[in-house]
Amino acid sequence: MTDTMIAVIGGSGLYEIDGLEGATWQSVETPWGAPSDQILTGTLGGVKMAFLPRHGRGHVHSPSTVPYRANIDALKRLGATDVISVSACGSFREEMKPGDFVVVDQFIDRTFAREKSFFGTGCVAHVSVAHPTCARLSEACLKAGWDAGITMHDGGTYLAMEGPQFSTLAESKMYRESWGADVIGMTNMPEAKLAREAELCYASVAMITDYDSWHPDHGEVDVTEIIATLMGNADKGRALVARLPRLLGAERHPCPHGCDRALEYAILTAPD
Ligand code: ADE
Repeated sequence: MTDTMIAVIGGSGLYEIDGLEGATWQSVETPWGAPSDQILTGTLGGVKMAFLPRHGRGHVHSPSTVPYRANIDALKRLGATDVISVSACGSFREEMKPGDFVVVDQFIDRTFAREKSFFGTGCVAHVSVAHPTCARLSEACLKAGWDAGITMHDGGTYLAMEGPQFSTLAESKMYRESWGADVIGMTNMPEAKLAREAELCYASVAMITDYDSWHPDHGEVDVTEIIATLMGNADKGRALVARLPRLLGAERHPCPHGCDRALEYAILTAPD
């Protein structure tokens, strides 16, 4: 039986884990280059934890330049079993309000300027991402959020856009009305797809900061508004993460949804 290691990829607004014991920043090399930053490791409530700032300390990577493959590979090499993505998002639903959190369960991937797979040269594989998040891990995030007094939404479709500009009004209305997206952000793809290829359980906690540009009673989205909402939410994000070790436990069991066996029937290239 292996140990659980909960890896948190923190976005804007989540830059640390409270109460981490034996906290050490570690450099990890990968064949895909350097991750966004060093990775903070330690234990919390007896469970191994890792924390990676997605944009790097000092926010040096834009959503398009985040080294997604190196990030996922570095966490895998450290022994991560469960990846919790925390990120900011805009909302397409009146009832999903700024300050609320959404445990996302589907994605529409509209990114186009990022490396999206570990496979393709030398080894060809096609993994299923029909259900791109881990239901067990998502459930733990929901429970942790509820316990921390956060308004949580159970499920939602996240539209991943390339950015760095925000959407036009026409795009915002199309994503919401025709495409059925619930929230929008710039970072969960290809992160979620790569986590699946790496056979890691992945859950996404999206912190709503704005109503994008569709809402008639709210102005255009801007970074000042996003940062202000994120700062108000930073405590909530940390409180949610602090509750995860107790919910997930130190002992790792096989994933009931098969995330940890995703490659079993995915590889096409014949072995040497
Ligand atoms: N991140 C936070 N709010 C966003 C929005 N409205 N669009 C894209 N990314 C976001």
